[in-house]
Amino acid sequence: MKGIILAGGSATRLYPLSKSISKQIMPVYDKPMIYYPLSALILAGIREILIISTPRDLPMFKELLGTGENWGMRFDYIIQEKPNGLAQAFVLGEKFIGDQPACLILGDNIFYGQGFSSILAKAKDITDNACIFGYSVKDPRAYGVVEFDALGKVISIEEKPEKPKSSYAIPGLYFYDNSVVARAKALKPSARGEYEITDLNRTYLDEGKLKVEIFGRGFAWLDTGNSDSLLEASNFVATIQKRQGFYVSCIEEVAWRQGWIDNNQLEKLGKDLNKTDYGKYILSLI
Ligand code: DAU
Repeated sequence: MKGIILAGGSATRLYPLSKSISKQIMPVYDKPMIYYPLSALILAGIREILIISTPRDLPMFKELLGTGENWGMRFDYIIQEKPNGLAQAFVLGEKFIGDQPACLILGDNIFYGQGFSSILAKAKDITDNACIFGYSVKDPRAYGVVEFDALGKVISIEEKPEKPKSSYAIPGLYFYDNSVVARAKALKPSARGEYEITDLNRTYLDEGKLKVEIFGRGFAWLDTGNSDSLLEASNFVATIQKRQGFYVSCIEEVAWRQGWIDNNQLEKLGKDLNKTDYGKYILSLI
């Protein structure tokens, strides 16, 4: 399976913070934001990843992440000229995806909680379908929203409804079979002029091929859309790390636990960052 991180957009809700710098490169406590979705893909066992961003910001991601070789991975990069919608990731990524299934994660989405690896393993088991997630939030109006019947079957999905039919928002993590490319290419722009991920998901729903897995109460899906939620996400990560001593989304650790890098390589990466607690944590793992 191939992975895509969509890290473009203009992030106007974070202005002036994000006026001259990509939102997804900004810190969430002690790491660049993109580390969090990247670690989710690594946890899912996805080694080949396409990073999509704006003409202005893509070079910065290249400088930060490189070829991926250091972490036993392979990164490709492609520009999205304009923020034309999330579903465009699959049109831009057509060549990269080839004949494989694909997973898309948004560069500003943070997931954390026990059992995440097994949830990902289950979601990754795609044949000719799609798998997305539902997460109960107090106010789902800013998200895609999924509606279930009494038996838990999905009835509808809507993008940013004024009157949501349930409290279940759809997080920015999506698994698809290879038909996603053809489906994305066939989409028409929505009223707001974007190729909507919700319209893409609806094509699977209409064919009875959309699975929705629920993240439960003990799971954290965090938003980083405005300065308050960005601060809350930083505080969340700091609290967990200081209390438990385990790092949240330490790329080097997750790649090492996957067996993609050995102790020697981990040590080398740790030494490169030796002046920081992050580097010391890496060295303490061996
Ligand atoms: O976060 C989950 C939500 O993400 C879903 O519940 C919604 O269904 C989905 O439409 C999306 O809603 P947002 O309002 O958060 O989408 P936004 O336009 O803010 O874009 C999400 C991220 O993707 C953001 O970091 C910018 C980036 N992006 C966005 C667009 C439209 C791109 O890289 N390219 C784009 O064309």
